[in-house]
Amino acid sequence: MQTIPLVDVRAEYEPLIPRLEAAFREVLEGKGFIRGPNYWAFQEEAAAYLGVKRTIGVANGTDALVLALDALGVGPGDEVICPAFTFYATAESVVRRGATPVFADIDPATLNLDLEDTAAKVTDRTRAIIPVHLFGRLLDVRPLVELGIPVLEDAAQAFGAPGVAQQGAISTFSFYPTKNLFCLGDGGLVATNDEELADRVQLLSFHGSRDKAAFDLIGYNSRLDELQAAFLRVFLPELAGWNEARRAAAARYSELGLGELVELPQDEPSHVYHLFVCRSRERDTIRTALAEAGIASATYYTTPLHLQPSLRYLGYEPGSLPATEQAGAENFSLPLWPGIPAEAQERVVDVVRSAVPSRV
Ligand SMILES: Cc1ncc(COP(=O)(O)O)c(C=O)c1O
Repeated sequence: MQTIPLVDVRAEYEPLIPRLEAAFREVLEGKGFIRGPNYWAFQEEAAAYLGVKRTIGVANGTDALVLALDALGVGPGDEVICPAFTFYATAESVVRRGATPVFADIDPATLNLDLEDTAAKVTDRTRAIIPVHLFGRLLDVRPLVELGIPVLEDAAQAFGAPGVAQQGAISTFSFYPTKNLFCLGDGGLVATNDEELADRVQLLSFHGSRDKAAFDLIGYNSRLDELQAAFLRVFLPELAGWNEARRAAAARYSELGLGELVELPQDEPSHVYHLFVCRSRERDTIRTALAEAGIASATYYTTPLHLQPSLRYLGYEPGSLPATEQAGAENFSLPLWPGIPAEAQERVVDVVRSAVPSRV
């Protein structure tokens, strides 16, 4: 019996290996390993792709968040509202800046920030709001922008989603190797239409210096690696096709009747399905049946951030974010990657159907 993985990154880059090798060879010519020609060119190409004025390549998506918060002026004494149903880095970056994460609950339909709860948590210390476009599903952040507080879109999981990075003051991405746009190691990006913020992030990412002679700010050493930038320039033109293939695979799960068995991720035209995350109260039964059939599945944020040991000092108790905690208990993802074979998806749905003949 053939096993089915959750994602197959190699299937995505395999046809591109000759071009990746050529990109590697070009870097070996030695025109600059740090902030070399690919680093600068990718920043331009990513900005054009996203439709923003500027992007800055940084070491990873976590640094992108820290630098964006720093550029926004977030520091000790400030509060930053974000979800607890997200990857740890979203809140970790706030604490890294010496500020306090304030968790708002999520909308159970979209798994993204609940706009009403977010508005209710604004205080006179709120310095920024970080909505996360979770699993590739875009949140319309305009109502948050209207609150008059800078919005930082954590778009780590949503590169290429139409409209991403358009509304917030600043946005961040990760190129971790399973992301929609990925590199072959760590990488990240900050995007903004605000030239001043962009200049600040550019400066901060290089020790607060323009020339390594004068150091204007206390900064960081966080730059997108030249080699990763070269690989990203090979991948970027493929992204639209990959995201389309992800959407087609998600639609196929629906056509196969999966929605009669489990709660499907809520679709919307800009969803780029970084992951295909469903919900069921019978999640453990389903996952056991899948594992027995050699099919991978995964769960996310089962202990949401407000209940993580390192963030206990914030004082949240179990039950304080009910929709977040319920999503943590019920979510699970099924195999999906651009080009996943139809037969694999059919097998997945058959096994889910054998485990839970109807939705409970
Ligand atoms: C929502 C979210 N924010 C931030 C990050 C951090 O990105 P990185 O792993 O590149 O540091 C990730 C991913 O890993 C993420 O999923």
